Amino acid sequence: MEIVHVSAECYPMAKAGGLGDVVGALPKYQNELGHVAKVVMPMYRTKFLYDNEWDLVHEGGQVLGNHWFKYSVIKEKTGKLGFDLYLVDINGVLDREKIYGYDDDAERFISFQLAVCDWLSRWQDKPDIIHCHDHQAGFIPFFCKYVHAFRHQLADIPTIFTIHNGQYQGQFSWDKYYMIPAYDTVNWGYLDWNNLINPMASAVKCAWKVTTVSPNYMEELRQSAAGLEALFEYERGKCSGIINGIDTEVWDPATDPFLLKGYDAATVTEGKAKHKAELTKQFGLDPKKPLISFIGRLVDEKAADLLPEGISQSIYQYGGKASFLVLGSGNPYVEAALVDMNKTLKGYVNTYIGYSESLSHLIYAGSDFLLMPSRVEPCGLNQLYALRYGTVPMVRNVGGLKDTVTDYGAPGGFGITMEQSSVGDIAYAVGRAIDLYENKPGQFKEIREKMMGINHSWTSSAQKYLELYESVL
Ligand code: ADP
Ligand code: GLC
Repeated sequence: MEIVHVSAECYPMAKAGGLGDVVGALPKYQNELGHVAKVVMPMYRTKFLYDNEWDLVHEGGQVLGNHWFKYSVIKEKTGKLGFDLYLVDINGVLDREKIYGYDDDAERFISFQLAVCDWLSRWQDKPDIIHCHDHQAGFIPFFCKYVHAFRHQLADIPTIFTIHNGQYQGQFSWDKYYMIPAYDTVNWGYLDWNNLINPMASAVKCAWKVTTVSPNYMEELRQSAAGLEALFEYERGKCSGIINGIDTEVWDPATDPFLLKGYDAATVTEGKAKHKAELTKQFGLDPKKPLISFIGRLVDEKAADLLPEGISQSIYQYGGKASFLVLGSGNPYVEAALVDMNKTLKGYVNTYIGYSESLSHLIYAGSDFLLMPSRVEPCGLNQLYALRYGTVPMVRNVGGLKDTVTDYGAPGGFGITMEQSSVGDIAYAVGRAIDLYENKPGQFKEIREKMMGINHSWTSSAQKYLELYESVL
């Protein structure tokens, strides 16, 4: 089977969060299972672009509103990623330093999708499946089925739409209707949700199958989906959840090039101690205390707004028996509050504001616990990386966290779970973490070894996607 993944992110070319990790790994595993999976994404100005060599494979043009633009498609030369990676270059539109966050993001990603559809419609042998990820690829199912310029070539190719995050829908006003290429206006309803053009809603309506990145998140979307609940209920017949896996080659504490020294389940105690010593030295924390870390976007969805109070309350409540380390960026108020705590609670907590792939790996390795009090978590990869690195996840029972972490108080369990996203729940979970670390060293060691033995590699979920594709072919 030949599968084309369309996404705004793909590691290592460009990653803002878990979407990049997923699209950088799933195709590799699908290829290992004997299929041909490729990725097409926008060409941004990233280090990976400049460090690698590319072949020009196609040049074309498209119209956005009343303006014609030229695009080209380039391909990574060596195939070393385990899949073919294609970049769509649209001068001045896509080739910027950041992935998202520009005022013209709607125009940028519509241009990208127009170029992708135009390019695909010119393939002599069409792919079997077009797999679109999140709203930046959400118009593709509509374009393939209903847009005059593409439908003769593409309408018969099944489109799959995967929702990594239902909170971000990419909607915009009908004032910008001219950006959508010509279609029979009787089909306008396939673009609309609540009087806005909504690429996520459109994809849910037009894709042949829709998935979320965990089964539990699919259930949750029927209750709470930033306005799309009724749509998920209505379309439930074609919707399902497939849990994310992890790239066990990139995320392997035995071979991770970002670590000081590799370790596995047999050497986890010494391996983690070495990295904890390094981290606590770098961040002025006490290596004898349990180290509880947070890695992620500092946004409300991750309950990052609760971190300043949750951490300070835990420090006061338990007499500073645990240390805290935060890596992330996002909400400026949260950033400011955390940076302030670097001074007021010096020696107990430290925060690195920014994005650092290497530091994140060091934190997974050197921390005892990883805190994820998320309000919403479609899947969450951090807890899966934590398991692989022998770090006990402290998670709220929500979305994919609920599907992947069992409390250590339950049979077969290994994590610490919280019912709610609240300061009280965080402080209570911290108390349990300190207790496990200080009073139950035997159980703590057992849990670490058990976690490292859990297999969350992509193999089984890659197979589930293949079965889903087969169901529509
Ligand atoms: P989301 O995609 O919602 O941000 P996930 O848990 O799926 O959450 O994935 C987050 C990914 O981004 C993980 O690979 C995590 O290590 C990484 N990450 C998040 N914030 C940072 C940061 N500030 N520095 C380095 N890596 C980060
Ligand atoms: C999104 C979600 C996250 C998920 C990731 C990869 O960014 O917020 O929970 O793990 O996508 O699917």
